[in-house]
Amino acid sequence: MLRGIAGRSFTAAGRRVGSRDVSNTGRSRRTVLAVPGSSDRFIAKARGLDVDEVFLDLEDAVAPARKAQARAAVAAALREGGWGPKVRAVRVNDVTTAWAHRDVIEVVEQAGSAVDVIVLPKVSGPDHVTWLDLLLGQVERDRGLPAGGIGIEAQIEDAAGLAEVDAIAAASPRLEALVFGPADFMASLGMRSLEIGAQPAGYRGGDAFHYAHLRILVAARARGLQAIDGPYAAIHDTDGLRRAAASVAALGYDGKWVLHPGQVDVVNSEFSPSQADYDRAELILDAYEYHVGVRGRGAAMLDGEMIDEASRKLALVAAARGRAAGLRRTTSFTPGPPTTAAPPAGGE
Ligand code: GLV
Ligand code: MG
Repeated sequence: MLRGIAGRSFTAAGRRVGSRDVSNTGRSRRTVLAVPGSSDRFIAKARGLDVDEVFLDLEDAVAPARKAQARAAVAAALREGGWGPKVRAVRVNDVTTAWAHRDVIEVVEQAGSAVDVIVLPKVSGPDHVTWLDLLLGQVERDRGLPAGGIGIEAQIEDAAGLAEVDAIAAASPRLEALVFGPADFMASLGMRSLEIGAQPAGYRGGDAFHYAHLRILVAARARGLQAIDGPYAAIHDTDGLRRAAASVAALGYDGKWVLHPGQVDVVNSEFSPSQADYDRAELILDAYEYHVGVRGRGAAMLDGEMIDEASRKLALVAAARGRAAGLRRTTSFTPGPPTTAAPPAGGE
């Protein structure tokens, strides 16, 4: 349920699929900060950054020799707290490694309800997610934690994962988001570039990641999940980061990874609606409620623009994102004199 003006609430029709609903989790993921689990310094710094989610990494940012030690450090950092409203996640190693099961068991046993989500990398089929779902269930039960309380984010980062993305998105009610992993994906496809998240030089077809981005987004939305874009590795290239973030935000993505404090503001701002768009979304919701709910019309006019049920759905998404980003309305709706809406041309 998304909340609007006082006394008004709407079910986000069309977003409710599966047993978790993005709008119900209330979790904003505009910025998802990657933090090496073996670095006490980076972990301490992460607490103070204005990001929506932090994931403490046990996978590619941690050397094999330090994996075991990093598990304990990550669990301790979660237990110690200080994370404010951030989503607290841990990225474990992928299911083909010898570390994955101990990562999950040790972190959840030691951190308990201080971990919100497990990020599972290199998911190439639904069985990977099923494995994690069952293991989490066993540890939750053993530790007396709420059943199903820990969520899952699945990283889609190779050709097999993308080919199976619909089945992956449907594999567990714990799933909250699908995450595109450009570095591993570029390697899996043999893309000729070493610049993670940037367009491969020489490609003349437009956006080299468009197919993967849209494929993941469709699979995610079909199951009511969020879609998150992975890293942009050139941390000093703010313009390139902004372009990459703006492009997926326009497509509908909910957020993007950040690797460095200098990337946070750019990504937060690209994934927050503008004040004008947020105000407009709230006005559409009010106008729709008034004209359709109170006056019994199917469509109405607002400032010369026809609004109908499809407009309401779009406005719900923008309004929810604006509220999650902490925006406040600067305009209010006043019912005007009765107007007659033009009949929808074929509807939407
Ligand atoms: C992230 O994990 C990536 O591979 O880009
Ligand atoms: Mg990866």
